[in-house]
This record gives sequence, structure tokens and C-alpha cells, in this order.
Amino acid sequence: MDVTLSVIKADTGGYVGHTDVHPEMLQVARERVVGAVERGLLLDGQVSRVGDDLALIMTHEREPDDPDIHGFAWEVFQATTEVAKRLGLYGAGQDLLSDAFSGNLRGLGPGYAEIRLTERPSEPIVVFLADKTEPGAFNYPLARMFADPFTTAGLVIDPAMHDGFEFEVLNLIEDQVIRLRTPEDYYDLLMLIGSPHRFVVRRVFSRQKGIVAAATSTQRLSLQAGRYVGKDDPVAIVRCQSGLPALGEVLEPFSYPHIVSGWMRGSHFGPLMPTSYEDATPSRFDGPPRIVALGYQLTQGKLVGPRDLFADVSFDRARRIALELADHLRHMGPFEPHRAGMDELEYTTMPELMKRLQARWQPLG
Ligand code: F6R
Ligand code: MG
Ligand code: MG
Repeated sequence: MDVTLSVIKADTGGYVGHTDVHPEMLQVARERVVGAVERGLLLDGQVSRVGDDLALIMTHEREPDDPDIHGFAWEVFQATTEVAKRLGLYGAGQDLLSDAFSGNLRGLGPGYAEIRLTERPSEPIVVFLADKTEPGAFNYPLARMFADPFTTAGLVIDPAMHDGFEFEVLNLIEDQVIRLRTPEDYYDLLMLIGSPHRFVVRRVFSRQKGIVAAATSTQRLSLQAGRYVGKDDPVAIVRCQSGLPALGEVLEPFSYPHIVSGWMRGSHFGPLMPTSYEDATPSRFDGPPRIVALGYQLTQGKLVGPRDLFADVSFDRARRIALELADHLRHMGPFEPHRAGMDELEYTTMPELMKRLQARWQPLG
């Protein structure tokens, strides 16, 4: 069966501050999703959240970028914004950058990752939702899942994976795209995606199976709006098993937290902490950045799940390390490398403050 999995998310209001989504917003979104399944627009759908971002996880028979699917998500986000406004929640409608919807969500604020696939006899999938970070946060784990034999044993010992994978990488600053094949282009891949602010992995393909294995959301709200409107808080979809990384290989990169950009005011580096759904409510210094992993078996277009994969005790140590890293970085206060570099702060309120000092600068005598 051919089916599209669309994961579309937006921050339409925080409860309290930027920490969580209010249960009433989730309820309203769920009612709409049930309605869309009943009238046949969706095969199946669920509502989830990470921090202040509400996520719609939907299956349907349309292509990616479908106007009706994106339009439906837009309507849901309008409805949750109304709830947020009524309850006086923080930043109601934060990610809805336009008053009008015109065909698809590109450039409008909400982030989305979509995969069109032919269901395999069994189709295990992980949906990752992250808060207080940027799309490039997935570069490191995707490189490790799909290209690092020390993470993914299958690259070495599974004949169906031995030829490696192909990475589609976007240059967000210059609006370009490149395809790199691992293992032969591995060093070039790392050269680029080691700068996750500029280069972002959008999709990964299996070379042997000729299928898409992973997709991320790549919008950059800050650049779209020309001013700081929050981090992009990305999502990703990863297919697992049978010639793709096993579920455990997909999760393995998160067993030791990597440092990402985001956190407080989208202007600080901090550890990406894997947590259960329950614990995905970033509060300390508006963080540290969180990621949840929802496991599904996709069966005849139905979402069987989710399993809350980071709830497992084997990620307890990653959480402890993340909290230690958080302490360490927090001690730096407003100093780099905890605070982001000046080029990143360009999209915040920083230039305004720099302007205030302009007249006080004197030439070096
Ligand atoms: C980060 C984020 C928060 C806010 C911070 C200040 O993505 O959303 O850390 O940047 O709480 O918010 P304002 O300026 O709205 O008070
Ligand atoms: Mg928010
Ligand atoms: Mg958020």
C-alpha cells in the first residue's frame, strides 16, 4: 500500500511560558483529526507535543505538500490558536506567520517532515519531535545512524546495508541542495553537516533498496520572518529495520547527548536531552532542549502506537549526562560558547542593542 506520513508541527501558544501545550489545545486538535479521519481526508492521525510545540502525525493517500492536508493542519493550528487566545496562553499563534493560507505550508511558519512510501510487510517508524532547537540538530544523529559503523552495526554486517546511504543536504543560507553518498563521501558529508546552522540533512535514502529512509523538517523561522520569532523546533521521521538501521541503531546516537543550538531565547548552546513524552516540558532556563521518540508500526496506513521510546531506563544515563552538561554550560552565563555566536544572534533582538551603542564607539587613537 502506498501511503504518505506527514508530521506537521507548530507552536500556537505555550502553557506556561514556553514549556508545554495546554490540554484543551490538544483536545481541540484531536477532535479535528478524528473528524478528518471520519470524512476520509486522513487514513489515520494522532496529536502529540513536545514542549510548546503541537504535532499532528497523519497518514493519507495524497502526495507530500498536498494543499488539502497542509490546509487541514493550518485550520487545526488556527483552532488551537483560538484556544490559546481564550486562555491567555503565551505567544498564541506564535508560529503562524501569515493571516492567509495559500496552497501549502512552505514559508508560513509550521514545520513539517513528510515521507511517501510503499508499506513494507512490516513498517516500523520512529517520529522524533524536538523543542528548543533547530533542524540541524538532526544532522549529528542522522550521520551516526546511517553512516557510522560504530553506531550502526548493520553497515558492517548486514548485506542489505553494506552499500551505504545517500544524504540530501540543504544549504539554508544559499538555497542549494547536494546529494552525498556514504561511505565514499563521508568526509565531505561531515565537513558540511558539522555546521548545522547552515547545512541541514533533509532526507536520507537507502542505496540498495532505493527508498527514502528518513526526512526532517527544514524550515528556518528566524530567516523566514527576518527577525527572531522562536527556534524552528524540528521533527524527523526515520524508517527502521530490514535493510535500514534497526530501531536500536536509530536510537543509539541519543545515548550520549550532543550539543545543539537553541535553548533560552534560541540563543544558547546546550545538550539535547532525550526524554519520555511526560518529561518533554523544558523548564530550566527554558530547557534544556528536549527530544521525544515515538515508535509506530505503520500498518495499512494505520498508526499502531506510539511507544514512548526514550522512556526506557537505558536513556537514564543520557539524561544525567545532559543535566551535568547543562550545569557546566550554564556556568558560562552570557559567554560563548554557551551563548550563541554573533552571526546567530543577528536574527534576535541583539542588533537593536548594538545600535544603541553605535554613537559611543570611538576610533582607536
Ligand atoms: C526559545 C523560547 C524561549 C523564549 C524566552 C523569552 O525558543 O521560545 O526561550 O525565547 O522565554 O521569550 P519572550 O521574549 O517572549 O519573553
Ligand atoms: Mg513558544
Ligand atoms: Mg517550541
